[in-house]
Amino acid sequence: MGGIGKTTLSKKIYHLFHEQYDKSSFLEDVKSKNIEDLKKQLLQDLCGRKKNNVEVMNGDDLKHIEETMISKKVFVVIDDVDEKLINDLSKVLAFQGKNRKSNVIVTCRNWGVLEGHLDLNGRFEVPYLNKKQAMELFLLHTFHNTKQVEKGFENIVEEIVEACAGLPLSLEIMGGFLHKKQSLDMQTRLQFWKGALKKLRTGKNLDGGKKDILWQSLEISYRDLDQPEKDMFLDIACYFGGLKEIIALQIWDSESSTLELQNLKDRSLVKVNKDGNLTMHDQLRDMGRKFAKEEEENRIWDPKTNLQNLQEQKVVITTSNYYFFKNL
Ligand SMILES: Nc1ncnc2c1ncn2[C@@H]1O[C@H](COP(=O)(O)OP(=O)(O)OP(=O)(O)O)[C@@H](O)[C@H]1O
Ligand SMILES: [Mg+2]
Repeated sequence: MGGIGKTTLSKKIYHLFHEQYDKSSFLEDVKSKNIEDLKKQLLQDLCGRKKNNVEVMNGDDLKHIEETMISKKVFVVIDDVDEKLINDLSKVLAFQGKNRKSNVIVTCRNWGVLEGHLDLNGRFEVPYLNKKQAMELFLLHTFHNTKQVEKGFENIVEEIVEACAGLPLSLEIMGGFLHKKQSLDMQTRLQFWKGALKKLRTGKNLDGGKKDILWQSLEISYRDLDQPEKDMFLDIACYFGGLKEIIALQIWDSESSTLELQNLKDRSLVKVNKDGNLTMHDQLRDMGRKFAKEEEENRIWDPKTNLQNLQEQKVVITTSNYYFFKNL
């Protein structure tokens, strides 16, 4: 399921082993990319061709990838594939059986998507964290250590960890959320934690599924934000994902933007990758887009809706970079 740790685990494996291969490629967040860009990345990573030098891929390029796949020891990770892309990608990677030295890891939320494309003998279901691991992860985000629980919080920590049901993303978001309340006095904090636990359990009651717990934990953290931070969160969910942090800050252009963004980072709601780009977990992004849709002043991120609104002149340009839709 979403947030269980597929990307984290496959990234770790990739970093541990890719140097043992002649060529390697990590195709990240595949779902949000198109097949042409993915093929170009494969051409770059496996055949050494500069991505920008390739306008349109031709048959020779594909052959080149295929030959490399067959003749070299290759390691490819395709993260979070969906039914739209699996067909094309499995054709490009059609070296299975021909080259036993190479390896491909594909992650997906749904086994059904992979059936018929890949040999499922090597399938691995990422397990939920056990109690000890879950506790460590939660403490890391809440108290910034993995061992010590603050005095007086022992029982409530146990209960919250249990309610997160071993889901790393829930533990991380709840930990970040509760950490932000460290400055309050102990009694107020305990009350606050109890309130959070109650809300988390309400999610569980919806249909008892782990997806509800995950969404509930993400929602609790979002609802607690002040309005400017909520706006910033929705901006990132809708259109600033992948944008350079410094450019986004210039667009927001307010004195408090840096502080607000820091607060989102502290809560693990937003991260900045090694290239300085803003990133958000796709579960959080989906939740943000859902909330944005419900808002009166709607943000438009879907290209189809964008085009339609432009044609109907429902778009107001507020700065050179920042478009938003007014409910006219
Ligand atoms: N074993 C782990 N130890 C510590 N943190 C983890 C672990 N696994 C996952 N996480 C944390 O949990 C969050 C969710 O993990 P990840 O993004 O890998 O999930 P996913 O299964 O790829 O989700 P999705 O299907 O939505 O892409 C990440 O922010 C990551 O930091
Ligand atoms: Mg993932």
